[in-house]
Amino acid sequence: MMRGGPVIAVDGPAAAGKGTLARKLAEALGLPYLDTGLLYRAVGRLALDEGQDPAQPAQQFAERLTPADMQRTDLRTPEVAQAASKVAAQPAVRAALVETQRRFAAERGAVLDGRDIGTAIFPDADVKLFITASPATRTRRRFLQNGGNPDAPDAQARLREMEEALCARDKADASRDSAPMCIADDAYVIETDTLDAQAVLAEALRFARERLAVTRG
Ligand code: CDP
Repeated sequence: MMRGGPVIAVDGPAAAGKGTLARKLAEALGLPYLDTGLLYRAVGRLALDEGQDPAQPAQQFAERLTPADMQRTDLRTPEVAQAASKVAAQPAVRAALVETQRRFAAERGAVLDGRDIGTAIFPDADVKLFITASPATRTRRRFLQNGGNPDAPDAQARLREMEEALCARDKADASRDSAPMCIADDAYVIETDTLDAQAVLAEALRFARERLAVTRG
């Protein structure tokens, strides 16, 4: 499908650095950027606000989602991440959010990060990246991102607890029936355990430019 610009899908497990990469890629290529995880986080947040178990049907919250819901500053907590994963497993919730994501890229193309961008939302994306790292690396990154102090006496216990929650969420995201997280056949996988953010960006840009030269001429 010919759009106003290229679509770049950035998928991968929790806290792999998809957001950081996708934002920088968008900046480098002059494309709009959408963090699709925020859609599911906002839906999970609304369910929690209503006192509802996020495993219960949450389609109504997805249908009435507003831009303001996505700009809330309380979407990055572990509680909301869990709730997001629960509402994201519901086919009706996913269906309600598909058009928003496709429309976002219609005019100028876009970089989108999530779990199912290259497999379900844009199976015809120009560039598909799958960003990953070991659970230990991803846990450490999320810990530091949340302002955790690695020298604190309880740091080891907190890291263990975070790693368990992160692995449980990955397992749920990869094993659900509706658009599970998986590597698209034509995705380029970047293992980021030994790469810093700048090196990941360089590798992703190299691949993206090569692909775009082929698909867009
Ligand atoms: O930032 P982090 O990688 O921890 O999570 P996120 O990208 O904000 O996504 C939160 C949750 O939303 C995930 O655990 C998935 O269950 C869900 N999600 C999804 O199902 N599909 C997407 N395209 C993006 C997120």
